[in-house]
Amino acid sequence: MVKFSSENALKNNKNDIPQAAKESLSHLRPVILVGFMGAGKSSVGRVLAGQLGWKFVDLDQRIERLEGKSVAEIFRSSGEEKFRRMELDTLETLLSELRDGRAVIALGGGAFVQEPIAALIEASGIPTVFLDAEADELLARCQEESKRRGSKRPLLETPENFRQLYETRRPGYLRASFRKETGGKAVKEIADELIEALGLDKGLTGTGENE
Ligand code: S3P
Repeated sequence: MVKFSSENALKNNKNDIPQAAKESLSHLRPVILVGFMGAGKSSVGRVLAGQLGWKFVDLDQRIERLEGKSVAEIFRSSGEEKFRRMELDTLETLLSELRDGRAVIALGGGAFVQEPIAALIEASGIPTVFLDAEADELLARCQEESKRRGSKRPLLETPENFRQLYETRRPGYLRASFRKETGGKAVKEIADELIEALGLDKGLTGTGENE
């Protein structure tokens, strides 16, 4: 499996994915989507997996299913530290299950900025894509989603906290193999751009199922 170094990640952070990477990525699977809250990891991941005919796994949803509680409830009852441990353990199990499975994996916003998680992924050689946008757009997306769903993310406090957390974490997201700008774009447009940029083929044989 081709390994992507953080050196490549920085070189590739100008939103363009070089030809050499496209060629190697066509043999690689799965793909992991990272980024801040509101980046579109789950919605883009689901559409991307559907178009590729790959399985889609949302790490937060897997944790919720295993624990029988929402992420917000886990934060309340067990605390953030315990949740971070669950993210690491659940991802470890998932990666061992998926060794050569075709899958798109969406991480929660705080997962990839945890050193043990970034190290685990880097050691696996699985490529990561940082879905990026301006903090204000991310905030607007999260606020709109909170209204629509009637639920709030545990770390979505004040706009100031949100922006500050984004700035603190951004260098961590930039460790990803690639960065994709998503500002002002629709979910399908981002998924299409990723398929093109990563040199992936639509409708390859795969399960196409969601977890
Ligand atoms: C978190 C982001 C959430 C979820 C949890 C913590 C974070 O996922 O994992 O609330 O620390 O940024 P989304 O990025 O899907 O909102």
